[in-house]
Amino acid sequence: MSAAAGLPLTGRKILVAVGGGIAAFKAVLVVRELQRRGAKVRVAMTKAGARFVGPVTFSGLTGEPPHLDLWNPGYAGELHVELGGWADAIVVCPATMNLMARAAHGFADDVVLATLACARGPVLFAPAMHARMWERPANQRAVAQLEADGGHVVGPVVGLLASGESGAGRLAEPETIVDAVERLFGEGAAPRQRDLEGKHVMISAGPTYEDLDPVRYLGNRASGRMGFALAAAAADRGASVTLVAGPCELRTPAGVERIDVRSARQMELAILERMGASDAIVMAAAVADYRPARFSEGKIKKGDQPLQLTLVRNPDILAGLGQARRGPTPVLVGFALETENVLAHARLKLERKGVDLVVANHPEDGFGGDENVVSLVDAEGDEKLPRLTKRAIGDRIWDWVAQRLP
Ligand code: C5P
Repeated sequence: MSAAAGLPLTGRKILVAVGGGIAAFKAVLVVRELQRRGAKVRVAMTKAGARFVGPVTFSGLTGEPPHLDLWNPGYAGELHVELGGWADAIVVCPATMNLMARAAHGFADDVVLATLACARGPVLFAPAMHARMWERPANQRAVAQLEADGGHVVGPVVGLLASGESGAGRLAEPETIVDAVERLFGEGAAPRQRDLEGKHVMISAGPTYEDLDPVRYLGNRASGRMGFALAAAAADRGASVTLVAGPCELRTPAGVERIDVRSARQMELAILERMGASDAIVMAAAVADYRPARFSEGKIKKGDQPLQLTLVRNPDILAGLGQARRGPTPVLVGFALETENVLAHARLKLERKGVDLVVANHPEDGFGGDENVVSLVDAEGDEKLPRLTKRAIGDRIWDWVAQRLP
């Protein structure tokens, strides 16, 4: 196998555990891609998984029948102990709601669950399900539990679902899943992933809501996903993380201190209070530029005349941080979302707001969902990154920040 030497996964033993969902057919592509990158692959399937994709396909690809049955009398030994001990890493693909709920509770009553319970190395879950299932609190609790227990999760992404609807629940692309497997062993992964140990970072995320009266507000459509991904990435790299979040219903990443705020002024207060304790601040929030000049204590009544709202400027939190900073820390990072002259505007923002790095979105390359195309713009120049998940963009931002921290 000298041809495989030097491939990113050469010498790695990966168990692909196939759950019972329509996306199971993509597990075939994941097996292929793992092999193409040099890995030795074995397969285990739940009973439901084997109803969606034929075990013979995996036999043909891996040269070994997939493991389906914990109770095979022809197997002398403890199959789950052998498989869990063999695998350098396990990829659960697709990870269904049922499978994750059971794994989160330590169920071990089929070959996949028992092997997960015996895993020696890291476990990566690649969830796929209908968006309503993905968002279900029981599912979110299970995912949070798996992550808190040291599991890794890739996806799901927003896109076309088996039902024909669109939403968050689509399996990440096979290449993205295998990229995530590579990162489990990434070059110098351990030291790099702890390179923010002892540092305190603060991240803002989500929209702000500016109240008009007790029931109405002005808001925007920011999802908060970029800021939450940044927080998760920083926590994984050993930082102590404060996440100042505008209104959004995302799950707090494990190990992150979350402060919920509503308006731009509340966000500013929360951030200024903690500025002195921060080594780096990343403003990923979509802060409202304006707020109603006056808040009406009672619900605004409708009338026959047009209603005029007067708006006043909100504080620019990031610019305020740039002005208040004395010395090189906190390192300051801002985001820029423009529809034209993206890089020129980002550079202006860098200078006007007195920040160290501006992450500029390229909306022409597609915007929103779990992936983006961005450029990193700093005093020295700019670098356009390929299309990446928000988590991967987060890691690239922390790579940049980590190099600048004293
Ligand atoms: O000026 P613009 O809104 O395009 O700049 C975006 C960057 O500035 C983002 O990082 C955002 O979080 C931050 N910002 C802020 N306070 C505002 C508006 C934007 O900190 N009032």
